[in-house]
Amino acid sequence: MSRKTPTPKTPTPKTPTLGINTLLTHCGNDPRDYFGFINPPVVHASTVLFPDAATMASRNQKYTYGTRGTPTSDALAEAVDTLEGSAGTIVVPSGLAAVTVPLLAFLSAGDHVLIVDSVYNPTRRFADTMLARLGVEVQYYAPEIGAGIESLMKSNTRVVFTEAPGSNTFEMQDIPAIAAAAKQWGAVVMMDNTWATPVYFRPLDHGVDISIHASTKYPAGHSDVLLGTVSANAEHWPQLHDTYLTLGACAAPDDVYQVLRGLRTMGVRLERHQQSALELARWLEGRNGVAQVLHPGLESHPGHAIWKRDFSGASGIFSIVLDGGGTEKAHAFLDALTLFGLGYSWGGYESLAVHVWLGDRTVARSDYGGPLIRLQIGLEDVADIKADLERGLAAATSG
Ligand SMILES: Cc1ncc(COP(=O)(O)O)c(C=O)c1O
Repeated sequence: MSRKTPTPKTPTPKTPTLGINTLLTHCGNDPRDYFGFINPPVVHASTVLFPDAATMASRNQKYTYGTRGTPTSDALAEAVDTLEGSAGTIVVPSGLAAVTVPLLAFLSAGDHVLIVDSVYNPTRRFADTMLARLGVEVQYYAPEIGAGIESLMKSNTRVVFTEAPGSNTFEMQDIPAIAAAAKQWGAVVMMDNTWATPVYFRPLDHGVDISIHASTKYPAGHSDVLLGTVSANAEHWPQLHDTYLTLGACAAPDDVYQVLRGLRTMGVRLERHQQSALELARWLEGRNGVAQVLHPGLESHPGHAIWKRDFSGASGIFSIVLDGGGTEKAHAFLDALTLFGLGYSWGGYESLAVHVWLGDRTVARSDYGGPLIRLQIGLEDVADIKADLERGLAAATSG
């Protein structure tokens, strides 16, 4: 949990006029708060001692108990506040918790929630099971809806949940238009911004109230940590913070530290992920056996203009559609890969591939005419990744 107003750190002022890599390098803790050591201490804590009974009774000191924040969790939360331009950030044990905690914070029985149909599948599962059980009416909308979301708003619509680009199929959303319409109805706008990271998109600058990240991905960067952050604007911070304290969903200090460490190099890693992924996406567009490449950075992508208008870059994950066939062809492609790992998640240093399942979609497009393969492009040399994809395509087309 961060303080509402991050303490300015001298001599490096936290101002958005600084370059993103400068911010990534210096945001968060102030070395002079801890004897000049550059990195903050990893505080393992439940109990915090009070100097006397009166202070214990009033709880009038900065830290009072491990679940309510430590110098380690504050360092990460303040770093994320700087990057997101938020009033406060909570740090939770997974990206999925970063989705569920804000939904629990703002939804009550009798409320209506609008969720983009291309949402990360476990978000849908949470909505369809727990939110439904708690008496929340859940409705899905098409990712391309834009200002048309107005027609779905109701007097009890409390939250509009966005994710751009969409999970696995990478549809872009017109976030400013959706946020403007939602605001007219007094709804809270949330965005799962994991794909872009605050380096390439700052949701709060575009009308979003709550920005959600699976820090497991690019912030951690090494496929060895699960963590999430949720950042709120000033209006919504008190309720988010209060729910966080009520649920006790605090994250473990070593994981928090690893993500803060990861942030320092995230900018340079992202540049490489972006460059390699775009080069490969362009190359794949012309390949035999590839019907379509779903990457918003490509001019051929239907959401390219929105991506170009609102985002300042692209990360390293996109999908390809094989030209016809089914599961057998998808498996032939995947089994021929030697460099790509077959595994879930993304944002780590290594390339990964997965056969996408779209059976959960209700209003978003789900039939692409061939198997969809999601590719997370790692930090390997592009020539080697290309050679591996050639192996996959050769196996898929020879069947
Ligand atoms: C868009 C998105 N949001 C949230 C999550 C959840 O993150 P975690 O794996 O840390 O629970 C994921 C994980 O793949 C994701 O892709």
